[in-house]
Amino acid sequence: MAYNLLKGKKGIIFGALDENSIAWKTAERVHEEGGTFVLTNAPIAMRMGQINKLAEKTGSQIVPADATNEEDLNTLVTKSMEILGGKLDFVLHSIGMSVNVRKGRLYTDEKYDFTAKGWDVSALSFHKVMQSLYKADAMNEWGSIVALTYMAAQRTFPDYNDMADNKAYLESVARSFGYFFGKEKKVRVNTISQSPTPTTAGQGVKGFGAFINYAEKMSPLGNATAQDCADYTVSLFSDLTKKVTMQNLFHDGGFSNTGVSQEVIEHFED
Ligand SMILES: NC(=O)c1ccc[n+]([C@@H]2O[C@H](COP(=O)([O-])OP(=O)(O)OC[C@H]3O[C@@H](n4cnc5c(N)ncnc54)[C@H](O)[C@@H]3O)[C@@H](O)[C@H]2O)c1
Repeated sequence: MAYNLLKGKKGIIFGALDENSIAWKTAERVHEEGGTFVLTNAPIAMRMGQINKLAEKTGSQIVPADATNEEDLNTLVTKSMEILGGKLDFVLHSIGMSVNVRKGRLYTDEKYDFTAKGWDVSALSFHKVMQSLYKADAMNEWGSIVALTYMAAQRTFPDYNDMADNKAYLESVARSFGYFFGKEKKVRVNTISQSPTPTTAGQGVKGFGAFINYAEKMSPLGNATAQDCADYTVSLFSDLTKKVTMQNLFHDGGFSNTGVSQEVIEHFED
């Protein structure tokens, strides 16, 4: 069901790789709610070509940008305002990648070049995106910026590896930049801490299948899907959440506050 919650609002959506991506579902949902946007992803991800399908479906233009490259980001911000005809109301940062995870290096055996690259892509890129928006004065008052994160920033999940540290940094950037963006531009900045979700990035984590089933059994409402996350993001882009800022918002069916569930107890009964 659509409610026209984003009618007249303009933005940028980072990170739609294929139709499983959280950003893909969010783009579709934002479109349904009347928002218009520019789609962006790393030039290397464009080669897979799937994003064109999403652009066509949502009547959007695509501007490639490597989220670690300041020049790319500045161009993206300028071009987006030209394409959309004015300042922006929402931005979704839905980007994550660990080279250590990809190459099978354990947390106790990190290759630090890989660590630095993963941190730049997954965490510092959020600062770079916001700094670029801030300096260009590209956000309208009461605009909303959202990034996606995972609970491994607060609690240890061994196979999440260095992404846990990246997410902790990302959440801190949301608070720190949220202060300046709030004070000076009346723009809110939040992170959504999402359930494990079967996407390309998610499935890169070792043992993901067992892990997602465990989370499902531990969450009173079950895991939040990518579609659920798209709905939640729309609410954070809408005018109904104007005073929510500098928060890490758990969107996980209750997982983060559950000590143990009946299903898990039964599994361990003698
Ligand atoms: N899938 C999960 O279980 C899960 C859970 C919690 C949070 N998240 C977070 O959600 C976000 C989106 O991931 P997803 O699960 O939809 O997977 P995904 O693989 O579909 O999306 C990750 C995106 O990051 C993009 N990206 C990588 N390097 C980039 C760069 N240098 N510049 C620009 N873009 C780049 C990729 O091209 C891709 O589109 C990530 O931040 C991820 O950590 C995912």
